[in-house]
Amino acid sequence: MKRYLLSAVVLFITYSSLFAQHMEVQILGSAQSAAKQNNALVIKTAEATARVWIYSPTVIRVSISKNTGVSDTSFAVIQKPEGSIDSKENSDHIEVTTSALKLSIQKSPLRFNFYTADGKELSQDDSRFGVNWQGTRVINYRKLYKDERFIGLGEKTGDLDRRGSSYTNWNSDVPDHNPKSDPLYETFPFFVGMHGGLTYGLFFDNTHKSYFDFGATTDHQMSWFGADAGDMNYYFFGAQNVADIIKDYTWLTGRMEMPPLWTLGYQQCRWSYMSAQEILDIAKTFRDHNIPADVMYCDIDYMDHYKIFTWNHETFPDPKSFIDKLKSMGFRLVTIVDPGIKVEPGYKQYDEGVAKNYFATYPNGEKFIGEVWPGRCHFPDFFRDDVRKWWGASFTALTEPGVEGFWNDMNEPAAWGQNIPWMVKFGNYYMPEIRNVYGMEMARATHEGTKKILGNKRPFVLTRAAYSGTQRYSAVWTGDNSAYDAHMLLGQRMVNSLGITGMSLVGVDIGGFSGDPTPELMVRWNSLGVYTPMFRNHAMQGTKMREPWRWGEANEKIIKKDIEQRYKLLPYLYSSFYQSHQTGLPVSRTLAINYTQDTMVYNPTYQNQFLFGDGLLVAPVISTEHTASVYLPKGEWYRISSGEHYEGGKAYTVDAPLNDLPVFAKGGAIVPMQNIIQNTNEKGDGILEVNVWYGKEASKFVYYEDDGSSYDYEHGTYHKREISFDPANKRIKFGVISGLLTSKYTKIKLVLHQFQSNISGNVRTVSVNGEIKALSGDVVMFDNTNSAITVAYH
Ligand code: GLC
Repeated sequence: MKRYLLSAVVLFITYSSLFAQHMEVQILGSAQSAAKQNNALVIKTAEATARVWIYSPTVIRVSISKNTGVSDTSFAVIQKPEGSIDSKENSDHIEVTTSALKLSIQKSPLRFNFYTADGKELSQDDSRFGVNWQGTRVINYRKLYKDERFIGLGEKTGDLDRRGSSYTNWNSDVPDHNPKSDPLYETFPFFVGMHGGLTYGLFFDNTHKSYFDFGATTDHQMSWFGADAGDMNYYFFGAQNVADIIKDYTWLTGRMEMPPLWTLGYQQCRWSYMSAQEILDIAKTFRDHNIPADVMYCDIDYMDHYKIFTWNHETFPDPKSFIDKLKSMGFRLVTIVDPGIKVEPGYKQYDEGVAKNYFATYPNGEKFIGEVWPGRCHFPDFFRDDVRKWWGASFTALTEPGVEGFWNDMNEPAAWGQNIPWMVKFGNYYMPEIRNVYGMEMARATHEGTKKILGNKRPFVLTRAAYSGTQRYSAVWTGDNSAYDAHMLLGQRMVNSLGITGMSLVGVDIGGFSGDPTPELMVRWNSLGVYTPMFRNHAMQGTKMREPWRWGEANEKIIKKDIEQRYKLLPYLYSSFYQSHQTGLPVSRTLAINYTQDTMVYNPTYQNQFLFGDGLLVAPVISTEHTASVYLPKGEWYRISSGEHYEGGKAYTVDAPLNDLPVFAKGGAIVPMQNIIQNTNEKGDGILEVNVWYGKEASKFVYYEDDGSSYDYEHGTYHKREISFDPANKRIKFGVISGLLTSKYTKIKLVLHQFQSNISGNVRTVSVNGEIKALSGDVVMFDNTNSAITVAYH
């Protein structure tokens, strides 16, 4: 004990003298007292107070603070700790235990070390440095394991395995970013670490500018994370697989609502379609060419001098009749809104905001002015309840004529020069504390406001800036990417990484925002877009037009066929979003989620591959290659375009012509599809095509359907059943329906892929609830009833 104290004092003195002229390093010190207070364990050192709470058996929170009396608010966390804490103390340690985790707290110096309940070491403080401060900056140094890998942090450049990289979170407008730029637009301070076959997660809930170093600079001894100020406030997740860690993280920070079905269709955007007529012409061309699409966008030029909540009356003279015409063609309209409110007396939002003091200020009370598209602007203080309500209510200018989607841009917040002074105040916060959450609070205000206005209809919100928890309010896209191959691959990694941090409805600008893609890149990127949760084509002002018919007849054909594939997949995709809504598991999943221990999935050649839902594996391929190196993890796989069988656990070189992106179905995959429709308002032919690929192992899929637009699903109006495949007993079962809704599909068309080649003899008949039916090829059709249906093959 004495020895520890002595070494702590020596360390302190050494640091103090080393940094005397600079910012001193202040160490955490040793525990002087420990006591349970309410539902926390409170440990005091001379320098700080540490608190420990149990949120669930697999989630423990540690918060270490030098500050006293600060409010314990979080923008991200929506759960409360459990009522009691189970701890034991001896002379050296305090042990906090749950059924899944053991937190061993060393008293001198104070260190926090996590183990599984059966004693396997998950993560420890670095024994020398643990937590310390330099000025207000707080850092936690942690032990780095030899084989440790890291995934997460959401929208970040770099490799899937973040070992050896470091990152900064500081939401920024970064047009022209490249595959190495950092920081970008969003902050998700959550990562998963894995070593020795074990997994853990860590969410650093601190909104200041923050830093993560995954062994980039410390001779493989330490990883570290910290922030410019605030508390060392983190949640430790101890579930022993990545999917369960994501489940816990999204339990803690919330999960997405069911998205409006139309947002899963094809979306066409551009900065900007300059008039209502131009948008109507584009929409009509989709219909003339029979290319399915659901959404058109208005970028900034629909407004009167970029004044938010206004329309340019010359180019959009009658918004309602314009949107009605779009609707009659089966299109929804999404309009952009930026936070900057133009300084212009007489402009409603300006006058109201000034009168009510709704805008960010300098410390002397003067309103902050930054320049964005409209010129000089004030910025709403979205951290205030009354401001969020005011902002939300202003959307009537858009909802009354019929807008249903609200694109929140420039909310890092961006202002020309990108350097809003740190003394700018939002309510009780200064800029540095909350910059990383501004975009999320804007999205929240937009979501809450439009949800209120639209009544029972689901709004669609899309935001560029975000913080952990944004999934509760909004979709995100990855900002201003560029039209080259490396950006396409980076975009996919970012989509997959955002999925780890709870964001499932995620898109990239298909084709690349800046620059002009080659026709090959456009085709390739579009085919990847089919398997991107949000499928939006968007391009910058001045670039070549990007719509599917601008690329020559042969390419248009491929683009069309791919978009049609997206529409066929909608029942599968919608059910996959239901999974995100229920469990937080993303739709686009890095292979690291399911195949965590397989080192091949982190290999830079294969790191962009992902599972799209439970059953499909997609391998992105650059536009200049027509073959691809693909790694298929353990199991059986079938190329969906050819049916070709692949044994997993191996890498293959496969054909990848521009009209056939490598997509594989897992053995046992159950993928419900539908016929091609031109937009999601169409009813289709009423046939649900359930595709099952043969596998040696049993599998399950939860099929989910609701009206796709209202909140009635929250009150039981949905249609859900489990579809299971049992090869041992040669059965495919459609479970009893739960929910009050009758399916829009009256028939089920069951397609058995590769059953013939896998089971002895030819499958010619199946029995459906005992009734023998002939197979036509691999297909059998029967009524979609609410009761259980058992299909037996022989
Ligand atoms: C920003 C957005 C981009 C948009 C443009 C004009 O650059 O990221 O998507 O088109 O602003 O509003």
